[in-house]
Amino acid sequence: MKIFIDTANLDEIKQAADMGVLDGVTTNPSLVSKEGHKDFRSMLEKIASIVDGDISAEVVSTNCDEIVKEGRELAKIHKNIVVKVPLIAEGLKAVKIFASEGIKTNVTLCFSPSQAILAAKAGAYIISPFVGRLDDISQNGMELIAQIVQIYNNYDYKTQVLVASVRHPIHFVQGALMGAQIATMPFKVIEQLVKHPLTDIGLAKFLEDWKKLNG
Ligand code: G3P
Repeated sequence: MKIFIDTANLDEIKQAADMGVLDGVTTNPSLVSKEGHKDFRSMLEKIASIVDGDISAEVVSTNCDEIVKEGRELAKIHKNIVVKVPLIAEGLKAVKIFASEGIKTNVTLCFSPSQAILAAKAGAYIISPFVGRLDDISQNGMELIAQIVQIYNNYDYKTQVLVASVRHPIHFVQGALMGAQIATMPFKVIEQLVKHPLTDIGLAKFLEDWKKLNG
C-alpha cells in the first residue's frame, strides 16, 4: 500500500518524508491556494527535491485542448509529475492523448464506478475516488473503493486505485484490506497511523522500570 500525502505544505511533506514512509504527493488547486504558492512550477520543483515518487499536479483547464497543453507543460517540470485531470468528458479525451504520449495521469473527482471504468478505459495511471466527500453526504465512500477494485480486477485494468479524501486511519486500513494500491491523506492522518495509546503506555512503563534498575 503506497502512502501519499495530500498537501502543498512543504514542511509537512518534509516531515512525512523523514518518517521514511512516504511514496508520493498529491496536490489540488485548493491545497496550493491554501499555502499561497503563486509560483506553481517552483512549488513542484521543491516537492520533487524532497520526495522521490509520484507528484500529482492538477490542471485547471476544462476543455481537452487546453488540458493537454497545460498537462504537457506540467509533465516537463519533472519526471515524477503525474498530471491530475478532472473526471469530465473533456478530461477523458485528454487522458487518452496523455496515455499515447507516455504522460501519466491521475483522474480526480471520481464519485462513481461508471466514472472509474471510463477513466481506466481512457488509460489513466491512477483513479482518485473521494471517499470522505461521499461519507459527508451520507453515502458509503469505502463501498465505492470495493466496487472499483473488484471491477478493475475483473477486467485486469492496470489503473491504480488511490483512496482520496481520506479523513481518518480507518479509511486507510479498509482501503488496504480491499486491495487499493494507494491512499493519500493529510499529514494529520499520517501522524494518526503511527499512534496507539498502548504503545505509549507500554513504552513509558519499560523506561520507568529500566530507570529503577539503573538508578
Ligand atoms: O486531493 C484530493 C482529495 O484528497 C481532497 O480531499 O479532504 O478536500 O475532500 P478533501
